[in-house]
Amino acid sequence: MFSKKVVVSSVLAALVGVSAVAYAANIKLNKTSDNSEIKFPEKALVGTDAEKEFLATGKNIYVGDAEAIKTGKKRYNLWSCTQCHGPTAKGQVGPGLTGPKYNYAKDATNKGMFETIWGGTNGGMGAKGFGLMAPDDGVTVDELLKIIAFVRSNGKGLTGNE
Ligand code: HEC
Repeated sequence: MFSKKVVVSSVLAALVGVSAVAYAANIKLNKTSDNSEIKFPEKALVGTDAEKEFLATGKNIYVGDAEAIKTGKKRYNLWSCTQCHGPTAKGQVGPGLTGPKYNYAKDATNKGMFETIWGGTNGGMGAKGFGLMAPDDGVTVDELLKIIAFVRSNGKGLTGNE
């Protein structure tokens, strides 16, 4: 049922010819740190179906997708998440990320976890989003969705799309 929805939104996007940037307005994303609205620089958007679906509905279609999880694991290592959260996201210096309990309850959803990682927290977690980590560096929207898919793959059944 969910994949049907994705097809429909992709077809709609093709019909209307909406650019990737326009998708940023469809749902409201707010930083966990200060609740300000997340605005995406153009370079943060690459235009994949997963990115479009997320910005339209808050759902992460990469959860359960083996290819995306594989890439997500590499990015999780690349961006040093491993150092603080452990190789399988069960926690190290930083907390475990597989749930079901979180410091920020909204992290049980993919939208909430995205907001937390993109904009960071006030309790020791730096912003990782493109343009926030450094002026011209950081994770893209698509990359973060893959990282979250990897994190979810280490948990027990919580997809974040519930
Ligand atoms: C330098 C250490 C460090 C790195 C690197 C780091 N984190 Fe964190 N992270 C933390 C700490 C500490 C917290 C707890 C912050 C808080 O409670 O406010 C945290 C919190 C989080 C949370 C919220 C967990 C909850 O219980 O709500 C998520 C999700 C998260 N990190 C994901 C990531 C991801 C993904 C990466 C890599 C892109 C990453 N972190 C990189 C230290 C780190």
